[in-house]
Amino acid sequence: MTAARPNDVFSPLSVGPAAIAPMAVRPAVDPEVDEFRPEGHGLPSFHIWTLGCQMNQSDSEEMAGQLLAAGCDRAPSLETADLVVINTCAVREHAEAKVIGRQGLLAKLKRQRPGMRVVLTGCGVRESERAGLLRRFPAVDMFLRPDEEPELALRLGLVSAQAPVGLRTAATAATTVVSGRPVSAADRLAPNRLIALAEGRVARSSAISAWLPIVYGCDKTCTYCIVPFSRGPERSRPFDDIVAEARGIAAAGYPELTLLGQNVNSYGHDLPAEERFGHIDTERSAGRHLDLLGRPDLAELLDAIDGIRDARGRPAIPRLRFITSHPWDLSDRLIEAMSRCDSVAEHLHLPIQSGSDTMLRRMGRQYTVAHYTERLARIREAVPGIAISTDVIVGFCGETDGEFRATLEALEDIRYDTVFAAAYSPRPGTPALLMADDVPAEVKLRRLNELLAVQEKIGLALNQSWLRREVDVLVERVTPVRRRNSTEAEVADEAILHMPSLYGAAGEGSVALAGRTRHNKLVHLSGDPALVGHVVTVLIDHAGPFALRGRVVAALVE
Ligand code: SAM
Ligand code: SF4
Ligand code: F3S
Repeated sequence: MTAARPNDVFSPLSVGPAAIAPMAVRPAVDPEVDEFRPEGHGLPSFHIWTLGCQMNQSDSEEMAGQLLAAGCDRAPSLETADLVVINTCAVREHAEAKVIGRQGLLAKLKRQRPGMRVVLTGCGVRESERAGLLRRFPAVDMFLRPDEEPELALRLGLVSAQAPVGLRTAATAATTVVSGRPVSAADRLAPNRLIALAEGRVARSSAISAWLPIVYGCDKTCTYCIVPFSRGPERSRPFDDIVAEARGIAAAGYPELTLLGQNVNSYGHDLPAEERFGHIDTERSAGRHLDLLGRPDLAELLDAIDGIRDARGRPAIPRLRFITSHPWDLSDRLIEAMSRCDSVAEHLHLPIQSGSDTMLRRMGRQYTVAHYTERLARIREAVPGIAISTDVIVGFCGETDGEFRATLEALEDIRYDTVFAAAYSPRPGTPALLMADDVPAEVKLRRLNELLAVQEKIGLALNQSWLRREVDVLVERVTPVRRRNSTEAEVADEAILHMPSLYGAAGEGSVALAGRTRHNKLVHLSGDPALVGHVVTVLIDHAGPFALRGRVVAALVE
């Protein structure tokens, strides 16, 4: 469908909730009336620009699903789209600055094509700062908090009053207040997802790896973190809804599924107790008192999803992952489930943030380094060889050289496969604003570089232990030619990829491919593009700090 200028589809600029009056646009979802659509009554083509974490990627799939169900088409690029949806991240200033930096381009595009509209959503839209949004993002026509995203098509007037009940309920729901501050409310997202799934309005972006949100929001109070203020308090999706969605993903043939939440380890604490979960009484009450008896937890979910089997009795979804885990809530039950379930991949992302107890206290992380390392030892015992990745913040308020050194020591002791490190970035409205951001920028940068150099050596040594071993790789993609703005890690990966002696092993018709092992190791290989989506056995012949390279020795096309 070619999209005509959608001038009639949008209402004027607005920053307030539910302020855009739906225009008289017939819903395009009804096949009965579709053939009567007048010629030229076009719906906008759209482009979604997604920043941030997997949760945002999953949310974007829901928004794309809404727009497609309303009859819109995807535009080939942001520059050619009638409707640009920006799904923002606010975790660091840099993430917001990226979007602010594009305001000029968006304004120019809008001058060239006056029908173009821009919607901004995601963690950058916080209720407490709604008033300043238009000043920071002047090219934007409409702002939606993350919990308002299910209303996207409705607010744009792309669905009519016959819109599904869930959408209309969402439009009228109130904002939640946490510690006296208005924030996004996560409580309507679970029912909205259920409706979206039932109506086929989740446009998954990959046919290989599926996202499955299990808990929205975050109840933790890490002092540096904006997420609880942008995403609201924790809300777990009902157990049966999640298992039903996993069944659908299995039926669709996905080889990989990742359960999502800011803290997946606390899944279920807010759900009603049920007799069938009477055997569950985990030790998650540590930290704050929670009555957990009889409530489902992540371990129960892993068992249930692992229990979805194919005709030959194998897990119907061979690779099951979950992210992100909080060390404080990581229960023995979860560790046992990870060890027991065939499909659960041998990788855990367990953010440590700092290797110093005094720093962890200032960060409000609730655990000590001893607690963290005890949990890790237990996991390593239960799942031998498991790969561990983590997040680290350097230069947080008052970080002394000794505290920083303690983090380096933790890295040396623990020996992570991958570390995602960043310099502390003060975020508006977070408790840390009451502390002094007193580590100078150049010290933050120096520490960051020092930490990355330490980790590079550890990563390389660990990756070298995979040399001459055969690993199963789920091929995810044909590797694109080097992109502009590649990160350092990507450049290093590509350097491995383009080493002539290795690359020369490729046969006729082979292309550069990339995939991951069960341990979440990135592996470059060459082969037939038809291998994408399949598991192949690869003999590893080169190891870099960020990736491995090898050649296909057997294709296990499943
Ligand atoms: N829920 C996860 C956890 O418990 O660690 C992490 C979610 S957070 C969106 C992802 C990572 O961003 C964090 O682990 C932290 O390392 C980093 N981060 C969060 N706030 C930050 C800030 N103000 N400055 C720098 N990094 C930050
Ligand atoms: Fe942020 Fe802490 Fe929640 Fe993670 S656990 S999202 S770092 S508040
Ligand atoms: Fe960013 Fe929000 Fe995710 S702040 S990291 S998009 S939860």
